[in-house]
Amino acid sequence: MDMKRTTEPLTRSEVFNQLKRELYGEHHSGHSENNLFIILGASGNLAKKKIYSALWWLFRDGLLPDNTYFVGFARSNLTVEDIKKTCLPYMKVADEEGDCLSSFFSKNSYLRGSYDDGSSYDKLDTHLSSLPGGVDANRIFYLALPPTVYHHVCANIRKHCMSPTRGWNRLIMEKPFGRDLQSSQELSAHLACLFKEDQIYRIDHYLGKEMVQNLMVLRFGNRLFGPTWNRNSVSCVVLTFKEPFGTYGRGANFDDFGIIRDVMQNHLLQMLCLAAMEKPASTWPDDVRNEKVKVLKCIAPVDASDVVLGQYMGDPDGEGQSKLGYLDDPTVPKDSCTPTFATAVLYVRNERWDGVPFILRCGKALNERKAELRLQFTDVPGNIFATHCQRNELVVRVQPNEAIYLKMMTKRPGVYFSPEETELDLTYRSRYKNVKLPDAYERLILDVFCGNQMHFVRSDELREAWRIFTPLLHQMEKKKTRPIPYKYGSRGPSEADDLVRKVGFCYEGKYNGGSVGNTKVFPGQL
Ligand code: NDP
Ligand code: BG6
Repeated sequence: MDMKRTTEPLTRSEVFNQLKRELYGEHHSGHSENNLFIILGASGNLAKKKIYSALWWLFRDGLLPDNTYFVGFARSNLTVEDIKKTCLPYMKVADEEGDCLSSFFSKNSYLRGSYDDGSSYDKLDTHLSSLPGGVDANRIFYLALPPTVYHHVCANIRKHCMSPTRGWNRLIMEKPFGRDLQSSQELSAHLACLFKEDQIYRIDHYLGKEMVQNLMVLRFGNRLFGPTWNRNSVSCVVLTFKEPFGTYGRGANFDDFGIIRDVMQNHLLQMLCLAAMEKPASTWPDDVRNEKVKVLKCIAPVDASDVVLGQYMGDPDGEGQSKLGYLDDPTVPKDSCTPTFATAVLYVRNERWDGVPFILRCGKALNERKAELRLQFTDVPGNIFATHCQRNELVVRVQPNEAIYLKMMTKRPGVYFSPEETELDLTYRSRYKNVKLPDAYERLILDVFCGNQMHFVRSDELREAWRIFTPLLHQMEKKKTRPIPYKYGSRGPSEADDLVRKVGFCYEGKYNGGSVGNTKVFPGQL
């Protein structure tokens, strides 16, 4: 389509198609221009907190095609007005956006139905077809549902609700994708009978985060890092996820899964793939996903001796929820052995990484909120200075406050000639002051509209991810391995620090975190 050359504003569809071409370099034709976005589980937490807001932001910013309608489906007896009321606190609507918001909700409808009843889906299909352009429209089904109903829902969508004409159909699925290798394989097999892989978008929302997506550009768009990004120069790689709050209130749900299934097997492992994989042949989604699968195939199942598990207990001096331990939650079984903290060491047995520990650390109720990738480089061979040179570290901080910083040695400023640790610092909020980073869900939902699966998990990636963790999970459950208690608000059990030290991570505790440092500067010298 030729873009308008006049000052006439672009329609949403024109903006969308332009963006699609810019992002993905092609424009599918022959499909419908009308779109239906169906949220199954519209009454739930995920829909309330993430999905409706993401759709609203995309709509508000003109990033969705004009003819897009949103349909909520759930068991509860609700109206669009009810949905609006529950979602509004998460939608960050500015005062002047009232008209746009009304226009967004005028494109919404809601239908009550049962997840395992075919006739409910017949009604849904009739409703979809009755919307403007609905018969022809492309259909995106977002399963914001507990995994227990996935089987029924997928089968019913396939049987009753697929676009009857030239529209495409896409399915967005949320983790957990099974509980272990076997259940995940069963789910994948079920899906494969109903849909083609290119219709299935498995969300790992960490793949929608700015700094996670930046890993590929950082690695493959710079000459600087390539030659050192390997076992010759990297001593270890640390991937961290920390949350400063516990699971109180959703302990019963969490207890079924635990931190390894909740965070490590997906979010951290996906980050590991992007940090460890070889350069893909192109940015074509399957070229990228092929490399991720290859790297996973080089990782042996985690050995229990390379793992430290923890469970938080209350802090008697704390306030509110921090006073309470995991087991104080009445919805959690009193003798639960579910870990809320885990550190695991994985090895990628290939030519690039052989012998380099990949340390995955994640936990709830810790001292801070943080997600990051840290490459610690080896010591400088043959140090010529009187003082020791600290190891270089490259840190990609995913959240909070996105940043990339490289910890490095420099000459201590002034009359001295000794090395001192400092950093090259790219902090996003200083460097990109006026840029608003999209939310992970916003970005990923836009990808589904555009038909780009690069940031979604393919079934073979999933199989490999479960292969790596299933033996450990089964062993923990069989032996009822008791996690080590740690205090709410601490850094987790000290045994985890012992493990990472044992495999070669070097923490000196001297870094002063970006301040000018301990250097005594003589007047006029800086
Ligand atoms: P730290 O020096 O605090 O920690 C480095 C690593 O060592 C982390 O993985 C940390 O884990 C771990 N660690 C901390 N204490 C111990 C311990 N007792 N035993 C073993 N391991 C430990 O962080 P940084 O090197 O990143 O820098 C320090 C501070 O400077 C940070 O707050 C950082 O955000 C800030 N900084 C910010 C910049 C920016 O905003 N652009 C630029 C440069 C620095 P754990 O997470 O568990 O503590
Ligand atoms: C989810 C986990 O996948 O990620 C939650 O199930 C966790 O337990 C959440 O709190 C963290 O996401 P974010 O984007 O807030 O870091």
